[in-house]
Amino acid sequence: MVATLKILGLESSCDDTAASIVRQTGTDPAEIMSSVVLGQTDLHSAFGGVVPEIAARAHTEKLDLCVEQALSQAGLALSDMDAIAVTAGPGLIGGVLAGVMCAKGLAMGAGLPLIGVNHLAGHALTPRLTDQVEYPYLMLLASGGHCQFLLVRGTDDFIRLGGTIDDAPGEAFDKTARLLGLPQPGGPAVEAEALGGDPDHYTFPRPLLDREGCDMSFSGLKTALLRMRDKVIAGKGGLTRRDRADLCAGFQMAVADVLAEKTRRALDIYLAENPDQPVLAVAGGVAANRMIRLKLESVAAQKNVCFVAPPLALCTDNAAMIAYAGLERFRSGFSDDMTLAARPRWPLDRTSPTLLGSGKKGAKA
Ligand code: KG4
Ligand code: ZN
Repeated sequence: MVATLKILGLESSCDDTAASIVRQTGTDPAEIMSSVVLGQTDLHSAFGGVVPEIAARAHTEKLDLCVEQALSQAGLALSDMDAIAVTAGPGLIGGVLAGVMCAKGLAMGAGLPLIGVNHLAGHALTPRLTDQVEYPYLMLLASGGHCQFLLVRGTDDFIRLGGTIDDAPGEAFDKTARLLGLPQPGGPAVEAEALGGDPDHYTFPRPLLDREGCDMSFSGLKTALLRMRDKVIAGKGGLTRRDRADLCAGFQMAVADVLAEKTRRALDIYLAENPDQPVLAVAGGVAANRMIRLKLESVAAQKNVCFVAPPLALCTDNAAMIAYAGLERFRSGFSDDMTLAARPRWPLDRTSPTLLGSGKKGAKA
């Protein structure tokens, strides 16, 4: 008989409390039976960014409710699960701890195996959940705390080809929004403003394009924006709606150009070794940006590479990706015990050192 596995996944590494149940029978496509995400944007909005202590407290308060909702939406009980998967890092340590403690309690109470999952692995394996992509493939993970190109070779086998050396692009979008008086999270707000702007009105740099390889830098863009904004204010005494739209459009185009060019280079590196598996997948909140998606899609088309972009709700933080990554780990015979630790930093590629800049905002992913 072909085994059906049902995994409960928990996610609490940043500012979303999430629980989900994913089921898979044999090698059939996995199915998301429920996916609950309780965001905290309203709790942090007054502070202009995620406050770790507030986030941790909110996770502790909401995790139980989240699990209850995920089970009831799936029409299942805890005793129907085969294992509990939980984000054990990287992330804001208070939140990760809240999730790990909750998962340990549930696993111990129900007598179920416990599986610690790397949050970045959750994002990186999502194309297998949504599109049944086979290994290997190239993944661009671009979010509020991370930006990296990963060669995904297996459930627990990742090679980092390059990434940001300072800010993540989502972080740069968020800072840009703050500098222009737009709401958080900044990405959608800047994208909406950019619609009415001229991307060529202000000239933004394209950092690190003169350097070989696929490392990136985004902190200079935010500094450039600050200077341009201050110059306009000094000249006119303030910013018009039009100025703000032009600044947003110029900034967004610069981020899109850098991501597109570096993706082209990462694809060259990837395809040289894996010509028979031409797949580029994206994940992370920044992959929700239309302009960025379009540019990446066109790079993939130019290189005859299949472009996989999971639906938005599965690009941003969620627990279905954690349940699915846990399912793959469980199938491969892996499980943790009650010594599972919460890790603020946990690089996916064990051969490459953790970069200071990557995720310094708080190790989001
Ligand atoms: O993956 P995510 O939900 O959370 C983590 O960072 O793990 O990504 C959130 C980030 C935020 O910085 C947000 O501003 C950015 O993704 N973002 C966007 C867009 N939507 C979300 N950036 C650019 N354009 C968007 N449409
Ligand atoms: Zn994430």
